[in-house]
Amino acid sequence: MKQFHSLKVAAKSREASDAVRIALDVPEELREEFAFLPGQHLPVQVERDGKRLRRTYSICSRRDQWPLEIGIRVQPGGQFSEYAATELQVGDELQVMPPNGQFHVKPEATDGKCYLGVAAGSGITPVLSIIQSVLDGEKDSRVILFYGNRKQRTTMFIEDLYALKNRFPDRLQLHFVFSQEEQEFEVAAGRIDADKLKELHGHFCSGIEVDEAFVCGPDSMIDTVSAALIELGMRADCVHAERFGAPRRTKAAASAESRKDGAEITVIMDGHKKSFAMSKDAANIVDAAAEQGVELPYSCKGGVCATCRTHVREGEVRMATNYGLEPWEVEKGFVLACQSRPVSRAVLLDYDKS
Ligand code: FES
Repeated sequence: MKQFHSLKVAAKSREASDAVRIALDVPEELREEFAFLPGQHLPVQVERDGKRLRRTYSICSRRDQWPLEIGIRVQPGGQFSEYAATELQVGDELQVMPPNGQFHVKPEATDGKCYLGVAAGSGITPVLSIIQSVLDGEKDSRVILFYGNRKQRTTMFIEDLYALKNRFPDRLQLHFVFSQEEQEFEVAAGRIDADKLKELHGHFCSGIEVDEAFVCGPDSMIDTVSAALIELGMRADCVHAERFGAPRRTKAAASAESRKDGAEITVIMDGHKKSFAMSKDAANIVDAAAEQGVELPYSCKGGVCATCRTHVREGEVRMATNYGLEPWEVEKGFVLACQSRPVSRAVLLDYDKS
């Protein structure tokens, strides 16, 4: 099972008017564990005034680049992001879990593909990692990026994108869309939704066959843009999506199917077994474990980051939502513990199975 490690903040810089970039030093002995695929994210934790704050942030660096960098948009009232922007200093330590997530590419030097990135706001963070890694690692591939923001000054990683455009003028197409600034061309104005995506696609992708699309942004954008890409002819399994923000919850549907009384949960972690009773009132397996003093991995608790991924070896559970697992993982019996409640009286979960 993945564990938290203390990583030192190597650098911190302002990124747009309301975001920061944090570079984390990964010591040599942890580099294998922290090796990541472009697009993955990191659970990050800090103790503040006796309270544990845990969030998940996407990596923005290119593959094999150290120190490892993450991008954090400052949310008004967001405890972690405000702490990161105002108090966190170079030399401080953060607790960080190794990279995770299925939204990623595996660059292959011999590939010659066309990638489409569609990002809104801080959704650019994993997409930037993907773009850089593909342009560097696949010399015959090219990338088209549609990137939506309110204004230029709140656009994260704009300098990095222009620098990439300078390095790869023939292989990278950048198209910005702003919702709160006048634009000379209509196509560059507004928010990226299904209609805007089709408009952009019509202008800039006509006659181009896109092999893979990576869509990252708020919950409201993901489904409509992914559906529009499929409508435009892309195969569903070539449209990869990662959402941020709080997704819609469907707790009621899950609780209707799950047990109304308690259950016995056993977990296998690092070769050891632990059991605890899950009360009928516990919202999910992660919370039930915490009530019994058993710490299970988690980060977002929203069904997105998949930090809580585990395998159901015996018994049955139901998930309320799943935005973090691929269909093949669900078919093989993987679940998100933060979204799961038992259906059977006894459940055996294997955290060691990958
Ligand atoms: S903790 Fe993020 S999906 Fe469960």
